[in-house]
Amino acid sequence: MQHAVKSVKNFIWHFVKKQKGGFIFTQVFALALALDATLWPYVIKVIIETIEGFQGPREEIWPVISHVIILGLILWFSLDIAFWINGLFKTKVYPRFEAAIRMFMYDYVNSHSYSFFINNFTGTIANKVADMPRSCGSIVDMAITTFIPTFVALIISIIFFSFISPVFALILGGWVIIHIISCYFFLRKCTRYSTIHSESRSRLLGRIVDTITNNLNVRLFSRNTYEYQYTLEFQEDERKKYAETLWHIEKMRLILALICFSITGVLMIWYEVYSYRKGIIDIAEFIFILNTTFQITSITWMAGIMLPDFFREVGIARQALSIINSPVEIEDLPNAEELKVDRGEIKFNNVTFKYHHNENLFENKSVTILPGQRVGLVGVSGSGKTTFAHLILRHYELEGGEILIDGQDIRNVTQESLRRQIAMIPQEPMLFHRSLKENIRYGDITASDEQVYRAAKIANCHEFIMSLPQGYDTIAGERGSKLSGGQRQRISIARAILKNAPIIILDEATSALDSITEKQIQSSLAQVTYNRTTIIIAHRLSTLTDVDRIIVFKKGDIVEDGSHKELFKKRGEYYKLWEMQNDGFLPKELIDE
Ligand SMILES: Nc1ncnc2c1ncn2[C@@H]1O[C@H](COP(=O)(O)OP(=O)(O)OP(=O)(O)O)[C@@H](O)[C@H]1O
Ligand SMILES: [Mg+2]
Repeated sequence: MQHAVKSVKNFIWHFVKKQKGGFIFTQVFALALALDATLWPYVIKVIIETIEGFQGPREEIWPVISHVIILGLILWFSLDIAFWINGLFKTKVYPRFEAAIRMFMYDYVNSHSYSFFINNFTGTIANKVADMPRSCGSIVDMAITTFIPTFVALIISIIFFSFISPVFALILGGWVIIHIISCYFFLRKCTRYSTIHSESRSRLLGRIVDTITNNLNVRLFSRNTYEYQYTLEFQEDERKKYAETLWHIEKMRLILALICFSITGVLMIWYEVYSYRKGIIDIAEFIFILNTTFQITSITWMAGIMLPDFFREVGIARQALSIINSPVEIEDLPNAEELKVDRGEIKFNNVTFKYHHNENLFENKSVTILPGQRVGLVGVSGSGKTTFAHLILRHYELEGGEILIDGQDIRNVTQESLRRQIAMIPQEPMLFHRSLKENIRYGDITASDEQVYRAAKIANCHEFIMSLPQGYDTIAGERGSKLSGGQRQRISIARAILKNAPIIILDEATSALDSITEKQIQSSLAQVTYNRTTIIIAHRLSTLTDVDRIIVFKKGDIVEDGSHKELFKKRGEYYKLWEMQNDGFLPKELIDE
């Protein structure tokens, strides 16, 4: 499906079409409700007519009415069976329908750019993915089992009435038309309110998940009461919007009920009595019309009871649809080719970049990292080192200029091939809530156990993993929370080693390690990164003494570029950074940044 789905209706239709046959059968058997509401009054009418027409003694009535009663019983039984078959179809159709929507949503969410995840609450996104299938399922179910059968029952009743007297059909038909027009009028208003409510609910859930994710901070600062109050504000907003939505739905229901009462209640019954008095209808028809009117108003009323739920689900689905309707920011070109890396040269040509609505971080930046070069990126916090790495991975689009890898513009190649050729260890490595072995193997899912162990040995984590009771089968915890920071870093180093990519980016990859372990890993990493283009971002400058080149960042600018020796001699920014680390004192001008 193309993105930018205009409405929930189109979205649902797309998935209903996939199981056309199943849905048609579900709908056909659900129409038992329409028959249930309309045929019973007819059966009663026939029974009255038969009794009325019978002239003999009452004891002999049975043979005369038995066939109608038996037919009635068969109808009863058949409708029960039809309801059951409807349920049976549901067991097949609905789970598949919801699963298809869930997987579609999940897949679509994952195709969004990195910045989408940075700019949206994880909780909100997860909720939308979870809400969409459930809401669509409820909407379809309400339509199939209630709204459509109610409508069909109305049509059947109009047909029945037209046989008795066109005036009855006209009254009922008139009511149906006014009812539908009013529903349509209210529909847009109620949907708007329920969407506003849903947005508020989504914000609230996002906040709740944010607080739960940050529960350590809440504890460390004893902010339970504060967080409660903070969440309460969002809860208040949600409550108000929910109440407002319900109020509008109830207003609509009241108006619909008044229309129903005045047309079908007052007008219909008045005309019925009038027709009876004038001899236009007999007693059987009188009871039939009365019965049908009650049945019809009662199932319409039942359908009305569902309206708050219906609108809530439509609102939720509309909200969730925003995931689909927010375009994927970074997409492969239609003719994108695979990136081929044989040398590993990275070239920034007049690159200009800014984060949304911010000032330019990089302006007309040009720099070339030569094939196989080991480059250290340094600079104070916030100077743009991590951003530089993200740009190579095309996590963000440039404002201007281009980035070339071995002469290929990274915009012209597939994102998958680009990211396959680069192994990055992010500044805050995260692990899956899976076993350590699975986490390491993520670098190369085809790797054998032996290869996993070898990578773990290079990354200096084999020993600690083996000392755990469950060894490689130990579960890492959510985001790797059951491991220490240094252990998590080593697992992600092992994972990156296994990826065996020609370009390697280490963003503070060893910052959480003690200096002995760091030294050990560095010598192993030196072998792994040998002859591969390697970018090492590090605050601890002592880890960069053996790189080929050091690039010093300052507010997105490259202020120095050269070997450790050259820059050290120059006594500029790099030297200042060194000094700062040696004394433990920050020069004043750096503090001001
Ligand atoms: N997703 C984002 N949206 C907006 N601004 C961002 C985003 N990520 C980073 N920035 C800003 O861009 C600037 C550069 O950040 P970056 O993470 O590249 O710095 P860094 O040099 O890696 O810092 P550190 O040494 O602390 O890791 C900072 O001012 C930061 O606030
Ligand atoms: Mg950084």
